[in-house]
Order: sequence, then structure tokens, then C-alpha cells
Amino acid sequence: MNFRSLTIAILALILTTSVMAQTTPAIENIFARKSVRQYTEQKVEQSTLELLIKAGMAAPTGMNKQPWEFIIVTDRAMLEKFAALLPYAKMAAKAPAAIVVAGNPKVSEYWYLDCSAATQNILLAAESLGLGAVWTAAYPYEKNMNIIKEVLSIPEPYLPLCLIPLGYPKSETKAKDKWKPEKVHQNGW
Ligand SMILES: Cc1cc2nc3c(=O)[nH]c(=O)nc-3n(C[C@H](O)[C@H](O)[C@H](O)COP(=O)(O)O)c2cc1C
Repeated sequence: MNFRSLTIAILALILTTSVMAQTTPAIENIFARKSVRQYTEQKVEQSTLELLIKAGMAAPTGMNKQPWEFIIVTDRAMLEKFAALLPYAKMAAKAPAAIVVAGNPKVSEYWYLDCSAATQNILLAAESLGLGAVWTAAYPYEKNMNIIKEVLSIPEPYLPLCLIPLGYPKSETKAKDKWKPEKVHQNGW
């Protein structure tokens, strides 16, 4: 190996090491997360569903009020009802499970922000466990919220933020690359 190729090899090693130093399994998982809308028939274990909710409850909340409730749905008839009544949640019909994240607006005016943070944690936890999941909207649509409230007998004053159908992905899909450096500003616009 001559001096030039040795220098190139060392530079390549330094570059690779510095890029690798900027990534971690958690960062990789964030980049790998994507909405998954088709699932195999494989059941999702109860302990796994509870782990997802535990991840949800680890999210930050305004003044640490944790104004949330989580509803696990594995009942086929309920999942099919959601698919039939919610136009953008058709995938629920074939999902082995779903989680509804609901909040109490009387406990916190940030309820939907807190529940969004919990939802994102659930989506990330699902990705890391090899599951596929998708956030489908309830809030702020009265109609969607009422359907979910009725099917699950959610009492007043709780409001559902979203329904997250989930299961093991039917096929491999890639996460979108959304990095747009032009969206980043520093020390002002
Ligand atoms: C507030 C919110 C509401 C969403 N509602 C729906 C929905 O009702 N149905 C659906 O299929 N996807 C829904 N999505 C998923 C988005 O379509 C998806 O996140 C977006 O297309 C980007 O794709 P990705 O999640 O694979 O990165 C929603 C996502 C968010 C954050």
C-alpha cells in the first residue's frame, strides 16, 4: 500500500467513524419508522400491547399532568366497525389490534398535544419491535371522535385523539426521507 492509498483509507475510516458516531439505535429507529397499513394475521401478544402503552406513558406532558387513557382493541367486530365507519381507517378491518389514545380536556388544555407525544412514542416503540402501525385521525373531527367514543363507550369528558391500527407488517416498506435542509433556520428565520 503506497502513501496515497493509505491516506485515503485513513480518511475514509475517520469519515465513517464520525458518521457512525452521530447515530444510535434510537436514532436509526426514528428514521426507520413509517406508517404501515397492511398486516399479517399474526396476533400481537398482550404483553407487547402493554409495552407499547408503557412507551406511550413515557412521553412528556404539560406540567406532567398525563391527561391520557389508552384503550386496547382486539375485538374483531369493533375493529371491523371502525373500518366501516372511519373512511381513513379501513386498514383496521385486517389489523390484529389497535390502540386508541384518548385525553381529558378538563385535566389539561394540552391534552391533544400530550396524547400526540404518547402516540409518537407508541409508533416508535412499534417500529422497534418489528410491528407496523399507523396514526389515524379522530381529533379534531367531531364525527370520527363520536364514532370511536360510541364503539368503545368512552365516557365524558374524554376525547379520542387517534386510533392506531397495528400488527406485523405484511410486506417490507421503506421509510420516507423527509430531510429538507432548507427548512432549517438558525438564529432567526
Ligand atoms: C395527525 C395525523 C393524522 C393522520 N391520519 C391518518 C389517517 O386518518 N389515515 C391514515 O391512513 N394515515 C393517517 N396519518 C398518517 C400519515 O398519512 C403519514 O404519517 C404520512 O403520510 C407520512 O408517512 P409516514 O408516517 O410513513 O412517514 C396521520 C398522521 C398524523 C400525524
